[in-house]
Amino acid sequence: MSGSGLFISFEGPEGAGKSTQIGRLGAQLGHAGIPHVLTREPGGTPLGMRVREVLLDPALTIDSLPEFLLYSASRAQLVGNLIRPALRRGDVVVCDRYADSSMAYQGFGRGLDAGLLRQITQAATGGLTPNLTVLLDLDPAVGLQRAARRGQPDRLERADLEFHQRLRQGFLTLAAQEPQRFLTLDATRPEAELAARIWGAVQARLPS
Ligand SMILES: Nc1ncnc2c1ncn2[C@@H]1O[C@H](COP(=O)(O)OP(=O)(O)OP(=O)(O)O)[C@@H](O)[C@H]1O
Ligand SMILES: [Mg+2]
Repeated sequence: MSGSGLFISFEGPEGAGKSTQIGRLGAQLGHAGIPHVLTREPGGTPLGMRVREVLLDPALTIDSLPEFLLYSASRAQLVGNLIRPALRRGDVVVCDRYADSSMAYQGFGRGLDAGLLRQITQAATGGLTPNLTVLLDLDPAVGLQRAARRGQPDRLERADLEFHQRLRQGFLTLAAQEPQRFLTLDATRPEAELAARIWGAVQARLPS
């Protein structure tokens, strides 16, 4: 489905350690001499970066459906202009959040219909699904504490704790539905231990 490359996504709540682990994985891939691309949602393309500014602007109120459609617009552009070309080259593509975040945030979190989300995601991505999804699972209270230490909360971080609890359950439900794709890790474990588990899962999926 993803050509000759390997497509890896990282999921989990704010402050779970996605950026930390993606940085470590990027370094590992670099040391191993494996061509790779690190990207993120929303963003990753000029259009995606503009959409990101809109989505994270605390001055805006964005309803659930337009919020999802904005993420989908960024995702469609990212898949077409960056992810698919990289996979065709045979690169490893590592994406900070992907379609599972929409299922968790806009579906389980905001209550949009899961069938609608899947249909639009199918259209936006052409059905491109990660080969491996690393879920960094964390109690939302711990995650928000970690994120708050880094400065001003963005629009998402202001949302209530109950929303974040639904989000966590959403991610865990998605992971349970596709146990072969998901690697679910306890994000309170030490960074180096998590990095080793992730590297093991990546190596197991790399063409030999
Ligand atoms: N395994 C860990 N144990 C304890 N603290 C960690 C761990 N991994 C990362 N952290 C710390 O938690 C904070 C959040 O990490 P990071 O920015 O990587 O999370 P994130 O998932 O990318 O968050 P966001 O969704 O907001 O981008 C940072 O201060 C980081 O140093
Ligand atoms: Mg991050």
